[in-house]
Amino acid sequence: GCSENYRPNKVLQVATEPTFPPFEFQGQGGELEGFSIDLMRAIATAANFQIEFQSLPFDGIIPALQAKTIDGAISSMTITAERAKTVAFSRPYFKAGLAIAIRTDNQNIKGFNSLQNKKIAVQMGTTGAQKAKSVIGAEVRSFDSAPLALQELQNGNVDAVINDAPASLYAINTGNLQGIKIIQQLLTEEFYGIATARNSPYLSLINLGLSKILKNGNYQQIYQKWFKS
Ligand code: ARG
Repeated sequence: GCSENYRPNKVLQVATEPTFPPFEFQGQGGELEGFSIDLMRAIATAANFQIEFQSLPFDGIIPALQAKTIDGAISSMTITAERAKTVAFSRPYFKAGLAIAIRTDNQNIKGFNSLQNKKIAVQMGTTGAQKAKSVIGAEVRSFDSAPLALQELQNGNVDAVINDAPASLYAINTGNLQGIKIIQQLLTEEFYGIATARNSPYLSLINLGLSKILKNGNYQQIYQKWFKS
């Protein structure tokens, strides 16, 4: 098991796909920012290990964990049974869920069932992409990032986007997206986890740090910074 004294003898490489504000994104100068970035740094400090971030496409993260070219990933990744066959997850650190985004002038799409035969944009490799593929007759268009998918909706090229509710809401509330609303009723309840390779020696250390910051108030501070300002 994990002891307080265990320390990796290297700087852990932690992957993220940084186009997902307010969770992980690049600031004006290109530096990584966001809830997940602050959280991962706090976890590393609390459990006394060093990290370095690496940017990867979202659908490249699981293969990189399996190939062990990275040691961990924090990328608003939903813990799913399917992913858990190939990677390991930390204890959950955030509750989210999928929502449908549509243009504000759209009166026809009222929920999941009205998506049939519609055009839906998604970020590839995500739970939103999976959900979209389950819609009968829908044409699913996959993009490298959620902002690109939302952009396509704003431009009128698709009818809807299926994406994590807090990420779509943030884009709307910051004014980065205009003329877009989300359907309040969530399609799923999902929990984010930090991922490692299966049987990684680092997972228990990550869980230790996460448990510490949940207990000492640090998690709550970071949460407030990004979600209650
Ligand atoms: N929670 C969703 C998933 O796990 C989307 C995550 C997208 N993350 C990102 N950094 N782009 O599939």
